Amino acid sequence: MKPSPALTLKDLQAMKRSGEKISCLTAYDASFSAVIDQAGIDIMLVGDSLGMTVQGHCSTLPVSISDMVYHSQCVSRTRSRSFVMTDLPFMSYATPLQAAKNAAKLMQSGGAQMVKLEGANVETIRFLVTQGIPVCGHLGLLPQHINQLGSYSVQGKEPAQAEQILADALAIEQAGAQLLVLECIPAQLAKTISQQLTIPTIGIGAGIDCDGQVLVLHDMLGITPHTARFSKNFLADAPSISAAIGNYHQAVKQAQFPAPEHSY
Ligand code: KIV
Repeated sequence: MKPSPALTLKDLQAMKRSGEKISCLTAYDASFSAVIDQAGIDIMLVGDSLGMTVQGHCSTLPVSISDMVYHSQCVSRTRSRSFVMTDLPFMSYATPLQAAKNAAKLMQSGGAQMVKLEGANVETIRFLVTQGIPVCGHLGLLPQHINQLGSYSVQGKEPAQAEQILADALAIEQAGAQLLVLECIPAQLAKTISQQLTIPTIGIGAGIDCDGQVLVLHDMLGITPHTARFSKNFLADAPSISAAIGNYHQAVKQAQFPAPEHSY
């Protein structure tokens, strides 16, 4: 069988316009990258969650830019169709210039096709975009802000906070970002944001009305000891890892995941 062509941002944007849900899963190494790619997942996120899942830290804060380059290289080597997006880690984008230099490392050495950064860093996003760097925003629960937040809890429950998240989402799109991850916010707020933006939203703990869904690989395989309510162990009902990832992909495409019990 002829391999499917590699996905581009244009394909992902067309999925939003046609109502096709986008599947996304974290990937950190070459073996899993091949399995995830084969399962048909649209986007592989080399997430800085690797600080916890791979490196054993308690948060994403210790992850360095060279860690992200290394894991992006591993993932990029075995992907053929999935679109590869990599996180800019904590304190690697404190200024627009620093962000651009580090994004260049992820793209030139790591093979990333897009970088993701947390928060409403509108000036930085605008600068990256003018340099030809595709950017994904990330709003709601921001794991790199854990020491300010105190816990990994749902964001945007209060009306003022919800309004701020919506305003930030619009500003991020206006600055030129081409995707937006929404983490751990009420499903109704994620629906409003997804309706108001023209770029695709990818939710994690943000309900069924996002344009796509992302999960952390180790959570959906039941490896993480205590997973959040928004995740689901797809290996529990599957005969193999590749079947579990395939079932997740199908559940996202058919809008069967997340169910109400995975949402806020
Ligand atoms: O690092 C990561 O895995 C992420 C997802 C939780 C969206 O950013």
